[in-house]
Amino acid sequence: MSLEEQITKLLDKVNTAAIVCNQFGDTGKGKFVDLLAFYWADIIARGTGGANAGHTINIKGKDYVFHMLPSGMLHDKINIIGCGVAFDPREACNEIDILEQAGRNSNNLRISYNAKLVLPQHILLDMLKESNTDKIGTTGRGMGPLYTDHTARTGLTVNDLLNKDVFYQKLKRNLRDKLKFLQTADQELIRKIMHHERLENGIFYSPTEIFDTSAILERYMNYGELLKELITNTEEIIREALGKQKILLEGAQGLLLSVDYGTYPFVTPSDPSIQGLAKGVGLNEKAVDVVYGIIKGFYMTRVGDGPMPTEFGGEKSAEWCRTNNRETEKANCSQYTINNHDELQKGIAIRMAGGEYGATTKRPRRTGWLDLPLLRHAMKINGDKLILTKLDVLDQCETIKICTEYIYQGPDYNIGNKTIRKGDIIQTEIPDAYFLQHCTPNYRVFDGWLQKTTDATNYGDLPSKMRNLIAFIDNETKGRSAMLSVGPEREQTIVRDV
Ligand code: IMP
Repeated sequence: MSLEEQITKLLDKVNTAAIVCNQFGDTGKGKFVDLLAFYWADIIARGTGGANAGHTINIKGKDYVFHMLPSGMLHDKINIIGCGVAFDPREACNEIDILEQAGRNSNNLRISYNAKLVLPQHILLDMLKESNTDKIGTTGRGMGPLYTDHTARTGLTVNDLLNKDVFYQKLKRNLRDKLKFLQTADQELIRKIMHHERLENGIFYSPTEIFDTSAILERYMNYGELLKELITNTEEIIREALGKQKILLEGAQGLLLSVDYGTYPFVTPSDPSIQGLAKGVGLNEKAVDVVYGIIKGFYMTRVGDGPMPTEFGGEKSAEWCRTNNRETEKANCSQYTINNHDELQKGIAIRMAGGEYGATTKRPRRTGWLDLPLLRHAMKINGDKLILTKLDVLDQCETIKICTEYIYQGPDYNIGNKTIRKGDIIQTEIPDAYFLQHCTPNYRVFDGWLQKTTDATNYGDLPSKMRNLIAFIDNETKGRSAMLSVGPEREQTIVRDV
């Protein structure tokens, strides 16, 4: 059976499918959205996150990192940016420009009039906070301040791009409280941030008022003019298509970064779970027929700060990732191998083998073994279907460890009416950063398969040692690995159960 036939069979009775991540993002959603968009979907819709996400698309042999446009843009399908998305018009217009220069148009794009509008003040406040000691390692795309405004009921929406007077009134109201705070902050630092490329190199900066509101108005009205044909009621499009067309929901980030379910406060301010995603396109999650939660096969990554019990090299690795980048690792670490006994060096080698550097921030992604307590927690919300990616990265790894449970090592800690004590064994993560920071992993150790897997096209082609590991994960999580990825290409995909 060809891959197309397998996908068609797998999704035979499905009208609406979703792809979300069960870890900290960067698990390869883009590849699977592209795959299902190519062979199956009529409509692809994003509902969460914003320009903090990133996926690489290849146009005429050249790679581009896109942040705003959905991963299905290159296919001749409707692509939707839903109401839950933090919409950055500068980023979207740049990406549309790139498409147009490559001879592609963006007529298949629809942007929700109700998506949340990223403004210069959001990016300034995000970057300002991240220059403090209480930073959490954000992507600096304005997400926290934007969603704060949304819940404080002072935010703007994409629709405001189309109504000059309303935009200006709302902009001024939105800035009022922020200016009081900003006037007490480090003015030199503000001046510097306001000249950042993401803030259009200083065009919104006023040395006396901080923001030149006329410049913001002019530029944002210009964006409105460029985008107006694409802005519409996307929620209605999706509801009308429900049950008639094949809808694919594209997640962003990962469940463990969810503001509601993740390792709070080291999280993104939106909810990347299936619930947040469905809501972010205007649907009830019950309308989604099948949800696939992606994880990396047998290792995992995290960008930014926050607890990660299985991290190779622990705190040393987190610090290393703060101060290094792809270039320094390439120059200084080529002798490390994924079988290194030194954990920090093993982690660096796995990062290099897997190309684990942030698409948005270029930061090295922290690496660690697969963590089942975290996965069990994620699957309680995202359901039991899994996709395992990057399985080939560990092809030459002699020993593979999987964290099956934690031992709590901290002082007595109350979670609701239960007290967790030193030495307690925990099998399912509790989404609480303090708790997680005091956990150490217990591992189950497996032999590696030591064999190339990138040419496998059927489950039976995979080495039995790898299949044992997959069965172990399914068994431990009471889930089912439905699709597997053994390389970046579309065809390097294995579909089970067909
Ligand atoms: P923010 O979303 O920029 O506010 O960042 C909050 C946290 O989420 C930081 O730890 C980021 O590194 C992380 N984060 C946000 N977007 C992504 C993503 O697409 N992949 C991985 N981590 C992300």
